[in-house]
Amino acid sequence: MCGIIGYIGDRDASTILVQGLKRLEYRGYDSAGVATFTEGTIPVRRCLGKLENLERLLRDDPIEGKVGIGHTRWATHGRPSEENAHPHRAGKVVVIHNGIIENYLELRAHLGKLGRKFTSETDTEVISHLIEEAVLSGRDIVAATREAIAQLEGSFSIVVMHQDDPETLVAAKSATPIVIGLGEGENFIASDIPAILDHTRRVLFLEDGEMAVVRRDGVTLTTFAGEPVSREPRVVSWDPVTAQKGGYRHFLLKEIHEQPQAIIDTMRGRLLQEEGDVSLDELAGCEWATNAKRITFVACGTAWHACQVGKYFVEQIARIPSDVDYGSEFRYRDPVIEDGTVVVVVSQSGETADTLAAIEAARERGAKVIAICNVVDSSIARRADAVIYTHAGPEISVASTKAFTTQLTVLYLLGLFLARRRGVVDAEAAAPLIADLVNLPSHVEECLRRERAIEKIAKKYGDARGFLYLGRGINYPIALEGALKLKEISYIHAEGYAAGEMKHGPIALITEQVPVVVLLPKDAVYGKSLSNMKEVESRGGRIIAVTDSPSAELEDIAWEIIQVPTTNPCLLPVLLTIPMQLLAYYIAVYRGTDVDQPRNLAKSVTVE
Ligand code: G6P
Repeated sequence: MCGIIGYIGDRDASTILVQGLKRLEYRGYDSAGVATFTEGTIPVRRCLGKLENLERLLRDDPIEGKVGIGHTRWATHGRPSEENAHPHRAGKVVVIHNGIIENYLELRAHLGKLGRKFTSETDTEVISHLIEEAVLSGRDIVAATREAIAQLEGSFSIVVMHQDDPETLVAAKSATPIVIGLGEGENFIASDIPAILDHTRRVLFLEDGEMAVVRRDGVTLTTFAGEPVSREPRVVSWDPVTAQKGGYRHFLLKEIHEQPQAIIDTMRGRLLQEEGDVSLDELAGCEWATNAKRITFVACGTAWHACQVGKYFVEQIARIPSDVDYGSEFRYRDPVIEDGTVVVVVSQSGETADTLAAIEAARERGAKVIAICNVVDSSIARRADAVIYTHAGPEISVASTKAFTTQLTVLYLLGLFLARRRGVVDAEAAAPLIADLVNLPSHVEECLRRERAIEKIAKKYGDARGFLYLGRGINYPIALEGALKLKEISYIHAEGYAAGEMKHGPIALITEQVPVVVLLPKDAVYGKSLSNMKEVESRGGRIIAVTDSPSAELEDIAWEIIQVPTTNPCLLPVLLTIPMQLLAYYIAVYRGTDVDQPRNLAKSVTVE
């Protein structure tokens, strides 16, 4: 996610702003900018790329001032560019923003009718124009900000400056974090604590629906409606590294916990619940997508597992034949691409060399390509015919977690989208499938509450020689993903297998030293899976069952049972994933491995 910093005091603002942004670099960004009050104006400096570029720009063309705002942007609406970098200006108003404004197209159209001109492709720019409109109709900057945010739908944290009020910064928060840092004769605003930790440890966290008016000598908190809020400051004891990890021990754990929000951000603006439909603007006018005769998924690593689940979505929900391949296989096997085949590539980074090459192979053979990516304007996003972004925010830990569950979210949306356009599912049938998606983040929260129990299981089984992961049907790829997570971060050998295949080989591995993790949803093959488990148990295998439906029979044979909430079978893979991630994480911690930077692995594999 983007980084926010604001400063008001007696020191040189641009130095403090850039310093603060550097403390947020770990979050990833593609452009940056600052703005300060200088002699009745607010000059803005922005640039594409790293903070070094911004520093160079500020050396060549400095801006003075003791009050200002700064931002590092991780692109969501509009490619990374100087024009799209923050701060954004409308007349005398300058704004920085984190989050996504869902109704920005509507607001942009409305503002366009008022004669407003836009200079960027961002959703943020509408905020500055809305505030400027309110100022022109006689409001002060605080009231104008309040009036503007009443019109916003989505998630946002913003900081606002107005040229005629150089002693005030206004911050507002809805869904994305804002923290106010309290100093002596100076105050700070930031999206995350590390940005201000060099200056103060006394902080006030804004809650959703709250605003702060920040001046040199004090901070006033109110609700969006203007009700006063009183809150005692907290003193944070975090060291800078802990602060970067949001207080978590590792980025991986932080990212596991970010999943409910990442899923919300990914489905934001894409659900038309009342109409029993979903909207994927990215596929508007792409008849070739809705008329696809076959969907071939291509990806690598964890994204390939997402594709395996995606295949079930398009087959089960949209009834389109589908297959899945690795990027490294697809590119060299001279694939036969029939007319009407759509290739869907999935990639967190958008830079994986084999996936990128697969796009070329697909296009050479006449296929259209949809990319599902987390990084805006990445190479894969640029090469595809259409892109649907996951909004997971930057994923820092090498092992993929929140990127995976947001990929599943987009793939489910894609399945529903195609099913509705092709008339396979009507609005009435789609409504409960969409309602289940709306409930997904709270179900994920519930899975996360099993953390302590899973930690105990991890300690008990952490010395095992190997692990077997079993699943069936749509949950078989989750068994593969569970095994991959464990391998990647704990270095224990683990194999994922289709439960029904166990008797054709892996059963030979079963001993007390090789625990078996079984994904056991209450589905049509529950009974069959239980029989498979009995075979494990009778060979001395220790079973860790993950299920939405514990039963007396299961309790008889399983050593451990981890329960997840029940949902529709297509979304259960998301819920079953969470215990897989936590189990791998805590086993890795138990074994003392380098969780965030496991040996030999790279986050983004840009070579063959
Ligand atoms: C590397 C990473 C994996 C990732 C895979 C594909 O192997 O370590 O976590 O799943 O690349 O990456 P992509 O960015 O294309 O999803």
